[in-house]
Amino acid sequence: MSDRVVIKEVAARDGLQAQPVHLSVDQRIDLVNSLVGTGAPEVEIGSFVSPRAVPQMAGTEQIARRLPAADCHFSALVPNMKGYELAVAEGINTLAIAISATEQMNQNNIRKSLADTFLMAEDILTRAADDEVDIHVYLAVSFECPYEGKVDPGVIFDQVAQLMQHGPARLMIADTIGAADPAAVKAMMTELVSQYGIDRLGCHFHDTRAMAIANVYAALDAGIRQFDSSAGGLGGCPFAPGAKGNVATEDVALLCAQSGLETGINMSALLESVALLGEFIGSPQGGRSHYWLSNNWQKVFS
Ligand code: COA
Ligand code: ZN
Repeated sequence: MSDRVVIKEVAARDGLQAQPVHLSVDQRIDLVNSLVGTGAPEVEIGSFVSPRAVPQMAGTEQIARRLPAADCHFSALVPNMKGYELAVAEGINTLAIAISATEQMNQNNIRKSLADTFLMAEDILTRAADDEVDIHVYLAVSFECPYEGKVDPGVIFDQVAQLMQHGPARLMIADTIGAADPAAVKAMMTELVSQYGIDRLGCHFHDTRAMAIANVYAALDAGIRQFDSSAGGLGGCPFAPGAKGNVATEDVALLCAQSGLETGINMSALLESVALLGEFIGSPQGGRSHYWLSNNWQKVFS
């Protein structure tokens, strides 16, 4: 089992997309630069979505044009083929598409039926294969939906099977509203790993019920080595009421470091990014380990 854990830093997308404070494009560029400096191997820069639907993400094309030259994979979220084309035109060649496991979440998030969303995903995956673009498919509300309640794991297994036929570079099981628990995560990810291996699977957790880091541990235990996380634990979905922040990158990096797993995160730089985010948002940010790390990070990270 690999001791390398890949973190996709999503503070500049999931972190900002539901904030009442809207950052300027210049602030978002400063944030992306700062996050690249943390050593995260992957950084999501924003989303190519309707600015009417998510005004916080307006201007992502300008961020794409001013990315630093760095050994970092940049990605963006797209809700449809139009977003795909806009992102690819800006040279972004790793794209996240969000498919919700339930009908109502799809309708609220991207105004499409579940059936039409799957057809769109298949179109995007087919096109991406020709364009040599990597698609990370997110199966949102994989455990519970804010509108339809608990989701049967059997539904998720069927949807994953259907999506895997079309060759996503990665399939992310996303607990969009933070309702999963470690036993459910362990069971689901163990089953998926047994079918598909670990290379194309990952997890995306929110911390609504304070179980995000426990869920990361459960997924690690099932063999998963790819996770989304957000500096300072910022995050939420504008269309999923009650969703709290993402699991904090500093908490995931600390868990991994203490478990003998390597993330490549420079904790000193990450704490600076969290401070910058706090400045931009106008209130202090930080994961559950933030206070301890602020004074003691050298005890674990060199
Ligand atoms: N980027 C920018 N503009 C877009 C767009 C995109 N990816 N897709 C559509 N638009 C524009 C259209 O050009 C059209 O503009 P116009 O009114 O000036 O002509 C307008 O948005 C409406 O287009 P339509 O296809 O009817 O979209 P819609 O109103 O049904 O909304 C989405 C669908 C997907 C565009 C919208 O719901 C959305 O952007 N959702 C984002 C969801 C999200 O980010 N969720 C959080 C992360 S999971
Ligand atoms: Zn999320």
